[in-house]
Amino acid sequence: MSETKTLIIFYSYSGHSKALAEALAKENSFDIAEIKDASRPSGLKAFFVGCFAALRGKSWPIAPIDFDFSGFPGIVLMSPVWAGNAPPAVNALLEILPEGKTVSVKMVSGSGKSECRARLEAVIKDRGCTLDTFEDIKA
Ligand SMILES: Cc1cc2nc3c(=O)[nH]c(=O)nc-3n(C[C@H](O)[C@H](O)[C@H](O)COP(=O)(O)O)c2cc1C
Repeated sequence: MSETKTLIIFYSYSGHSKALAEALAKENSFDIAEIKDASRPSGLKAFFVGCFAALRGKSWPIAPIDFDFSGFPGIVLMSPVWAGNAPPAVNALLEILPEGKTVSVKMVSGSGKSECRARLEAVIKDRGCTLDTFEDIKA
């Protein structure tokens, strides 16, 4: 039974992705989990250090993961766009993604545009997972 379940994992700095993830979870009765920074960066740190890391596909420390991926073959990853890419906290999650997952990526941004589809698809593939869908959402 649990093998058919989908887990929405989201990161959100200012709340847009969180609201969208919560609405999607509610609509579809999906389980939901949050990726949290080990310590919340200031706006300046997010823009300068965070964007620099995002552009290079790098991670930074996240809080210990308190959710269990097992039993969720399907993952929806909801993330804001930072400098066209995934934020470092999302890259940190991707580094520990267990193999065998089918991942749908939803990138949330002011512009509705990201530049990370190919990079994320490659990372997801490297983890032994499959990119199912990739969607840009204008917040
Ligand atoms: C550090 C930083 C970098 C951002 N870079 C972009 C960008 O490159 N393109 C864009 O359209 N929006 C960019 N944004 C805006 C966010 O993607 C947008 O506000 C998104 O909805 C935020 O989601 P959140 O509220 O879940 O954090 C950036 C925001 C931050 C904080």
